[in-house]
Amino acid sequence: MTTPKLYIETVGCQMNVLDSELVVGSLRRQGYELVHTPQEADVIFYNTCSVRQHAEDKIYSALGRLRGHMERHPDKVLGVLGCMAQKDQELILRRAPYVNIVCGTGQLAQLPALIEQVKATREPQLALSLARKEASREEVTASFESYDPMRDPSMRPTPFQAYVRVQIGCDKFCTYCVVPSTRGPEQGRHPEHIAAEVKQLADEGAIEITLLGQTVNSYRYKYGDGRVVRLSDLLEKIHDTPGLARIKFITNFPRDMGDDLLDAVRDLPRVMPYLHVPAQSGCDIMLKRMKRMYTIESYREMLVRCREKIPGVAISSDFIVGFCGETEESFQKTCDLVRESRFKNSFIFKYSARAGTKADELYPDDVPEEVKKVRNNELLAIQSEVSLADQRQMVGRTVEVLVEGPSKNALKKGETSGPTQLTGRTPTDHIVVFDGNPRLAGRILPVTIREAAAFTLFGDIVTGEQVGAESREPLPERQGERSPEPSEKRFTLPLV
Ligand code: 5AD
Ligand code: SF4
Repeated sequence: MTTPKLYIETVGCQMNVLDSELVVGSLRRQGYELVHTPQEADVIFYNTCSVRQHAEDKIYSALGRLRGHMERHPDKVLGVLGCMAQKDQELILRRAPYVNIVCGTGQLAQLPALIEQVKATREPQLALSLARKEASREEVTASFESYDPMRDPSMRPTPFQAYVRVQIGCDKFCTYCVVPSTRGPEQGRHPEHIAAEVKQLADEGAIEITLLGQTVNSYRYKYGDGRVVRLSDLLEKIHDTPGLARIKFITNFPRDMGDDLLDAVRDLPRVMPYLHVPAQSGCDIMLKRMKRMYTIESYREMLVRCREKIPGVAISSDFIVGFCGETEESFQKTCDLVRESRFKNSFIFKYSARAGTKADELYPDDVPEEVKKVRNNELLAIQSEVSLADQRQMVGRTVEVLVEGPSKNALKKGETSGPTQLTGRTPTDHIVVFDGNPRLAGRILPVTIREAAAFTLFGDIVTGEQVGAESREPLPERQGERSPEPSEKRFTLPLV
């Protein structure tokens, strides 16, 4: 029998990258081999994102391109996984009747069985979690299973960097956002399971772990005896895992940025001084309409608190421009916030109305696309200036860089061996490029910053020195995944 072949393409955030890693892990266990094009594959999967219309359009186009191929190869299995599957369900089969599997975010563990069922019956298979209004909270929660222990290092951003899910779902219900329905109710994973997974990953060579949760800082786990574990406790629990050098966590919800967490980031040397805390808008009227549950004043206070508690912390944010009813005045408030907040970077998105969300139900999508585009560019330009000023302050400093591998440029030129341009990240998540041997990937090395652009630092490895552990003292993506080529870098969107 020939080895069955799997092609998987991932769109969206880090949660999806992790889900794809788990799907690949479980299918490899069934004997599957990963290939780089749908044409070579027996099973073709798209792991999808629903956060913006654009991400969905991309998937429908990709499915459209496969129509003829699937008709010519009726034995192949085509599956749509993840957020779009959970959100659109049968609609996917109506738009692309040659799709064989529609599998939601909470049902990915079923995939090996679903493939077998398709092969046996050639009937389309749907595996979906319950909608939030369909059953009790317990039943809905149970239908979004956690599916985490099966890992596959070849699917990671790099073999030494790994994601660990600490929280599933979201209960915040921001009015623009599909995630509470595509990923279900918020559930904190059991701390012992998380710690065991971190240990396993570190034993297998991971030196950097990024804890994932839609609102990771709201993480809570309540034991039967009433004891509560918070994110700060979890960080402390995993901190001394042998082999781990760096711990990060994304994404934070502004209102839940507790002092216990900031103290933990300050006091635990392996927890990196980097916080992603999306503001979404600088205008209270918009924040209220978005149901973000904080005001700009309290967001500003939160920023001050982060910086007081954690000297040298880098903070990044997300913004939505052109949300329903956003006037020029509202938008200018967002510009003011970006000008003054000194974010390391901001991810900026044009509002995309999503069916089934409160905003779509309550408010007209009344900012013209042209205006959204102009605002997007204006805000980007402001953030670029801020980022450039921030990056320039790094010039002349020596920072500890986790070497990730050849830079995008080096990969474009096909340089994956011999001295070339490498890329890596500082403890504050700044991207640095420098010359070196790709064998240095996975090492933490001192790099002196020579030059700064808005989103990249240029530096030189300090020769004759090697650093194993992190020291905090000297220091104060994206989109479109495929089955990765070896050593190919992958960029993703921030978590919602
Ligand atoms: N339209 C545009 N951007 C959105 N985001 C979430 N939902 C939408 C939407 N409907 C953005 C938010 C979030 C980021 C990952 O995506 O800024 O933080
Ligand atoms: Fe939850 Fe984030 Fe979406 Fe708000 S934007 S509903 S916090 S996932």
